[in-house]
Amino acid sequence: MALIDWTDDFETGINSVDDQHRKLVEIVNKFDDAAKKGKGSRIMNEILTDLIAYTGEHFVSEEKLLADAGYPKLKQHHAQHQQLLRKVERLQFEFDQQGKRITVEVRDFLKHWLTNHILKEDKAYVSTVLQSSPS
Ligand SMILES: [Fe+2]
Repeated sequence: MALIDWTDDFETGINSVDDQHRKLVEIVNKFDDAAKKGKGSRIMNEILTDLIAYTGEHFVSEEKLLADAGYPKLKQHHAQHQQLLRKVERLQFEFDQQGKRITVEVRDFLKHWLTNHILKEDKAYVSTVLQSSPS
């Protein structure tokens, strides 16, 4: 069973965002899967590196969308993205230092972070973006 099951609740209705969110869920699930299969710390660390890189790309793309739509809370949203990114980078550093001892902590954080951010913070901008450029 996957750590995060993609459900309709995650859909924002903005295709580019949904595609990127699906990919993020996929990478987080990959991390969990690697843990379950007993893969080495090096491989899991590589997955975290991919996650951070892709998350960075996604945030840039999402923030451009919000800027184009004139989303009034862009500044706060950007600050949250930065905070999340710093936290994941910190966790990766700790994972690198401590290895699999902190797997559960990393996994739980990623799951919580991704689902909460999509369901609460991202859902909040959907109507503004769709009104500005109906797809
Ligand atoms: Fe976001």
